[in-house]
Amino acid sequence: MLSKENIIKNINTKVLGRNVEYMYETDSTNEQIKRMASEGMDGLLVVADAQNKGKGRLGRNWDSPHGDNIYMSFLIKENISPAKAPMITIIAAMAVLEAVKKYIDEVYIKWPNDIVVNGKKICGILTEMKTKSEVTEYVVVGIGINVNTKSFADDIKDKATSLYIETGKIADRAEITGRVMNAFEKYFEIFMREGSLRLLVDEYNNNLININRRVEVQENGSKYTATALGIDENGELLIRPDGDENVKKVMSGEVSVRGVYGYV
Ligand code: BTN
Repeated sequence: MLSKENIIKNINTKVLGRNVEYMYETDSTNEQIKRMASEGMDGLLVVADAQNKGKGRLGRNWDSPHGDNIYMSFLIKENISPAKAPMITIIAAMAVLEAVKKYIDEVYIKWPNDIVVNGKKICGILTEMKTKSEVTEYVVVGIGINVNTKSFADDIKDKATSLYIETGKIADRAEITGRVMNAFEKYFEIFMREGSLRLLVDEYNNNLININRRVEVQENGSKYTATALGIDENGELLIRPDGDENVKKVMSGEVSVRGVYGYV
C-alpha cells in the first residue's frame, strides 16, 4: 500500500527523501513541491496517489488517476550551474531504471530520460528549476511511473505501458519509490563529486535503447536521420548524421530524437 510509513520504510538515503510528504491527491507533485520549496528541506520528497493537473514535458498533460501509479517529486537545494540541470534528468532516468530492473529485465533508457519496455514508455521525468545569481536555488525532479495500470486509452496504448501490463504482477509502489530515491542519491553523489557524468556514462550507454541505432532527429523544425552513438560526460547525445563522417553533439531541450520506424 502506498502510504507515508511504507515509503519511509523503503528509503535508506542520507539526504534525499529523508522528509516525505504523502498526499491522497494534489494538482501536480512538481507544483506542490515548488510551493513548499522555500521552507522545504533539501531532499524533500512529495508523493501523491493521484494528480488532477499532472504535467508532462512540452506543456503536455500527464494522466494521473488514483490507485495504480507513482507520482513523485523531490527537491534538490544545491547550487548547480543551470547548464548541468539536464544531467540531473539523466541521473533520474538511471535511478528509475535501476529501481524497475528488479521487476523486469528488458528495460531500457530512451535518450534523454524516458524509460521504455517493449518499445513503449513506462516512465516520464520532468525536471524544473529556479535559478538565483547564475546557479540553481533549487531543482525539482518529477517522476511518473506506470506501475499497476491495467490498460491505456486507445490514443496512447501503442506508446505507453505499465509494469503490470508487461509482467502480469502487481508491484509495490512504496518499494519502487524507495528504490528510486536510494539509486538516485547514489548516482547524484557520484555526479556532484565529479562535476560531470564521466563516471556514469558507460552504465547509461549500456542501457540506452538508441545505441548504435538509426534515429530521426528533429531540430528547429527540420528532420534528419543519424546513428546514435551514446552520451558524453555532459549528457549530450553523440550522433553521426547519415552521409556525414563527422560526429555531432545534440542537447536535450534543443532536439528530439525518435526511432526511424517509430517511438524507439
Ligand atoms: C514526460 O512528459 O515524459 C514527463 C512526465 C512527468 C510526470 C511526473 S508525475 C510526477 C511529477 N508531477 C508532474 O506534474 N509531473 C511529473
